[in-house]
Parts: sequence; C-alpha cells; structure tokens
Amino acid sequence: MSEKKELSVSAIEEGTVIDHIPADCLFKVISILGLDNCGNLITFGTNLGSQRYGKKAIIKVADKFFEDEDLNRIALVAPYARLNIIKDYEVVEKKHVTVPQEIVGIAKCFNPQCITNNENITTHFSLVNANVLALKCHYCEKITTEEHLKIL
Ligand code: CTP
Ligand code: ZN
Repeated sequence: MSEKKELSVSAIEEGTVIDHIPADCLFKVISILGLDNCGNLITFGTNLGSQRYGKKAIIKVADKFFEDEDLNRIALVAPYARLNIIKDYEVVEKKHVTVPQEIVGIAKCFNPQCITNNENITTHFSLVNANVLALKCHYCEKITTEEHLKIL
C-alpha cells in the first residue's frame, strides 16, 4: 500500500531521498536544509501514510549529496528521518540522523530573558546529554528540554 502512495513521487536517478519526516515538519526541514534556495530539482510528497507517524512527508533532492553535518541539523524536528543515497537509480546507502553536539540557529531558547529572545542574535546550544533532548544555551546557560523546544 505504501509503495503505491510513494509512486506519487517519482524515483530519482541520483541524489538524496529524505524519508519518514513527520508531515507537519516538512517545511521546517526544507528551511533547515536551505532547500528554499537550492537550484536542484526537488520533489516532495506529504500526508503520505506511515506506520510510525500516521502522516509522513518525503523529500527527494536530485543530484545533491549533503554533508552529514548538514543532514543532522534536521534531527531536532525529524529525529526518525531516514536518508537514502541514490546513485544510478539504486539506493547505495541508508543513514539515520543524529542530533548534533552543537546547534546553531534552528531552536529557540525557552528563557524569555535570554538575549537571543531580545536582540537579533543567532541562538547557540550544546547538547547536554546524547540520550535526552536537552539543549544548554551558550548565552544564558539555561537548559531547554524537549517539551519546551520551539523551532525557529
Ligand atoms: N527512491 C527513489 N529513487 C530511487 C530509489 C529509491 O526516490 N531511484 C526512494 C524510494 O521511493 C523510497 C526510498 O528512496 O522512498 C528508499 O528506497 P527503498 O530502500 O527501495 O525503499 P524501502 O525499502 O521502502 O525503504 P525503507 O523501508 O528503508 O524506508
Ligand atoms: Zn538562552
């Protein structure tokens, strides 16, 4: 059944397929990866059926092979994303994303007094612990946990 649905987004010859994106995060992923300013051929589908999410999105970027560092930036919004590297129409590699140690931009500090919420300063966090999503702000040192995490 899911195969039929995925046919609505054609196979690509070369490039990267980002699968299992929660449907409501599709445009955040597009923005985090800078795909809104990318000249490559991009196809996507959303509200596709998924066992894990109910609704998932998929993005296919032709002729683009991202650095792991760039792909990992989407882990905050799409921690279960699966990356498929396509060469000559074949999946040659599958990868997961992992939350990076240092997160610049993307997330908002939950502390309303933080300078990043009051001046035009890019946020910067360190991952406190690899097992839980807790981000320590470089500016105010407060820890933003998953339940308070807002994506910019
Ligand atoms: N894909 C593609 N172009 C290709 C080959 C694959 O766009 N030339 C896409 C498929 O549509 C699929 C993803 O890449 O969304 C992974 O392909 P594949 O491993 O063949 O599919 P599945 O086994 O369904 O992947 P998984 O269960 O790991 O998500
Ligand atoms: Zn802060």
